[in-house]
Amino acid sequence: MPIYLDNAATSFPKPSQVIEAVEGTLRLNAANPGRGGHQLSLQAGRLVMECRETVARFFGVDDSSRIAFTANATEAINLALFGVLQPGDRVVTTSMEHNAVVRPLKALSDQGVEVVRVMANSLGFVEPGAIRKACTPGTRLLVMNHCSNVTGTLQAIEEIGPWCRQQGILFMVDAAQSAGVFPINVEAMAIDLLAVPGHKALLGPTGTGFLYVRKELELRPLLYGGTGNFSQSANQPTEMPERLESGTLNTIGLAGLKAGVEFVEAVGLDHICSHEQELLGQLIEGLAALDCVSLYGPFGTTRYGGALSFNVKNMDPSMLGFRLDHEYGICCRVGLHCAPEAHGSIGTLPEGTVRLSPGYFNTSEEIEQTLAAIRAIIATEN
Ligand code: ALA
Repeated sequence: MPIYLDNAATSFPKPSQVIEAVEGTLRLNAANPGRGGHQLSLQAGRLVMECRETVARFFGVDDSSRIAFTANATEAINLALFGVLQPGDRVVTTSMEHNAVVRPLKALSDQGVEVVRVMANSLGFVEPGAIRKACTPGTRLLVMNHCSNVTGTLQAIEEIGPWCRQQGILFMVDAAQSAGVFPINVEAMAIDLLAVPGHKALLGPTGTGFLYVRKELELRPLLYGGTGNFSQSANQPTEMPERLESGTLNTIGLAGLKAGVEFVEAVGLDHICSHEQELLGQLIEGLAALDCVSLYGPFGTTRYGGALSFNVKNMDPSMLGFRLDHEYGICCRVGLHCAPEAHGSIGTLPEGTVRLSPGYFNTSEEIEQTLAAIRAIIATEN
């Protein structure tokens, strides 16, 4: 069995409850939710509603109709950015963003949206003061991630969100790396738009995710089409979540997502977070002892978690990743991790880094084996 250390890309393995929920739904309850009055359609509709309520509760959302399901965080981010921004608007972002944010913003800037980027320091942290300075009057939206997929840097969203609310600036958070590991409460953090993948630390299947949209904020849809209601009208409904959910939903995936979030709730976020932090701490200690290794990120602070990026002197990250996989069965991600600007901030362009991202199911023994493998590979190179 391989040692899987790529949970920042997607979590693996999934809890047995998730597998059973997916399989059970596929076998017994795969009707189209909200598209018929028959018992199986109603049952599927209930399942979707229960998933909506489960994720709403988990993120402190009062009204679950403000959750629109998507296929992943990227779709949720596109839905939010293209749904809110118009030519002439001004948006502030950071240099730590994933291409899921960078590329839609580039497309929007080509259409006349002004995009202002705040630079992170070499640990990947974006100073709240620099963000406040960049958010000049007239700024419509601030979009940033909570936790970097490259350095694991946690941004001060709990401080920035309430400030944005006071200024009348919409605050959007990409929680791709933090949801299911670090606490997120949309009310306490004054988040207006929250993009979340279902398949990472929430432990659901791929093909799941959602966008939270604060009440009274009406987005232009990305997709128009059947919603199962208001069928007499050619206009897209204004009601949420139908406004943003055209076409048949991924009921099977959502059954798994519900089971994943329930698993996280039952185990406890604190427990999951401290387990992952311990494994990261073990990796950091082992790698920091090697002179030829450079580590990137704010280790030893409260603003770190989720993933560890490093490089070995005179060794291409892709070669190290290849050898870990082929010689030791250790799965990690190498390169730019779809976040080139983040590598610009930490000084790892153009090669990028090797990234290890432990998850809840990894063990201390697996981390020891990984460290031993890295030491052995280094010994053959030098
Ligand atoms: N965004 C995911 C990653 O960092 C896929 O690997």
